[in-house]
Amino acid sequence: MDSAIYEAALDYIRTLFAGDATGHDVHHTLRVYRTAMRIAEAEGADLNRIGLAALLHDADDRKLFGTGDDLTNARRFMRTHGVPGDEEEAVCRIIGEVSFSKNGAAPPTTLEGMIVQDADRLDAIGAIGIARTFAFGGNRGQAIHEPGADTGTSVAHFHEKLLKLKDLMNTAEAKRIAEGRHKVMEAFLEEFHAEWEGTDWMTVAELRR
Ligand code: ADP
Ligand code: NI
Repeated sequence: MDSAIYEAALDYIRTLFAGDATGHDVHHTLRVYRTAMRIAEAEGADLNRIGLAALLHDADDRKLFGTGDDLTNARRFMRTHGVPGDEEEAVCRIIGEVSFSKNGAAPPTTLEGMIVQDADRLDAIGAIGIARTFAFGGNRGQAIHEPGADTGTSVAHFHEKLLKLKDLMNTAEAKRIAEGRHKVMEAFLEEFHAEWEGTDWMTVAELRR
């Protein structure tokens, strides 16, 4: 594959995700691309396929576009740009294995799938993960937090999914990156609850009253 296809894919996703406020904007795709390339180098995997799969991985997100498992947008893009059929199938297999929602906890069957999934999940944790979670929640109209609620709020989503991702990473390089990002989320939640309860400014004596 020559680099023209990468330029074309970039233009395509810029158009596709223009104005997105759900945390799936073009910068998400670019971060997933860069992270996937970094992990791929560490793991010695096929950079070409991973690159294209990373760039197209959210092009058929059901939540955003109403297309789905048949990967209509990704396939149309690859056909328009002359990607050979076997290459299209390989890229689609990687994309199909990435999504948490589609595959649950079932790990991808290929190294390429594992790498793009890790890159996508790494973008859901850490400081950027925190920002994306509240953006997604706000866009969907859900509350920031509701004491006692273990689902349906953005804070609940950390416990439902995000704090579990560290242990679900497929590759060693992703595990290493996830450790640090996990700690950022833990520190954030601790401070969030301290401010919520007022324990960040109350003295111990005031707390006892
Ligand atoms: P993927 O499309 O990679 O399977 P998602 O679309 O579930 O993953 O997640 C994309 C982003 O949206 C993540 O940053 C995630 O934290 C956020 N997100 C998904 N579901 C929720 C939710 N119920 N509340 C808040 N944020 C969410
Ligand atoms: Ni994604």
